[in-house]
Amino acid sequence: MPADRSRQFPNLTVLGHPLIQHKLTLLRDRSTSTRDFKQLVNEIAMLMAYEVTKDLATEPVDIETPLERMTGQQVAGKKLTLVPILRAGLGMVEGIAQLIPSARVGHIGMYRDHDSLQPVDYYFKIPGGEEERDFIILDPMLATGGSAVAAVTALRRAGARRIRFLCIVSAPEGVKRLLDAHSDVPVYTAALDRQLNEKGYILPGLGDAGDRLFGTR
Ligand code: PRP
Ligand code: URA
Repeated sequence: MPADRSRQFPNLTVLGHPLIQHKLTLLRDRSTSTRDFKQLVNEIAMLMAYEVTKDLATEPVDIETPLERMTGQQVAGKKLTLVPILRAGLGMVEGIAQLIPSARVGHIGMYRDHDSLQPVDYYFKIPGGEEERDFIILDPMLATGGSAVAAVTALRRAGARRIRFLCIVSAPEGVKRLLDAHSDVPVYTAALDRQLNEKGYILPGLGDAGDRLFGTR
């Protein structure tokens, strides 16, 4: 990726950590097995989550070490909520949950119509207390941006205020569409790829994330 492609998007963070980039290259490789693909998606999501959560609010908490009392810090507020966009977003949940075991999980069911490329939604369930929660929407792919915009819009309609979007591979068209619609949503990606092809697939991309994760091709 040219170093400055991401500069046109102020609310986009490309996570260039060497471990993330190494695993992403393995993920893109067409010869990577379904089993390895699943593991790599989880590992990349876990590494990315560290950065995505770096500005979570903390609050003081009094504890006792074996030696004396002290005031430590803990993440403040209601439990962080992961919201995978089905299906492929599910592949990112376990990795992040290993890092944040107390995280709640909501689900947004959505697929992209093959011909129109428009998102079709079929399920929505998130925990209550939406206004006070931090939400992280998970989807490995941000292509045209239709699914991402619809997911953020649905969460907003339900009352969510603090939303981040985490994907692994994105296209400039999709990032633009998402940030044009929701300019205040921080978007994190491991790669901002070159472009979409005529069928809405990201180039060079990694193919169909859902099919590669679940072995459905
Ligand atoms: C893929 C991907 C995103 C969407 C991205 O899902 O996981 O949700 O496409 O495309 P967009 O940015 O153009 O909306 P897909 O529709 O293939 O559903 P699946 O996860 O059930 O396979
Ligand atoms: N969905 C995918 O799974 N891959 C793409 O490249 C685009 C949309």
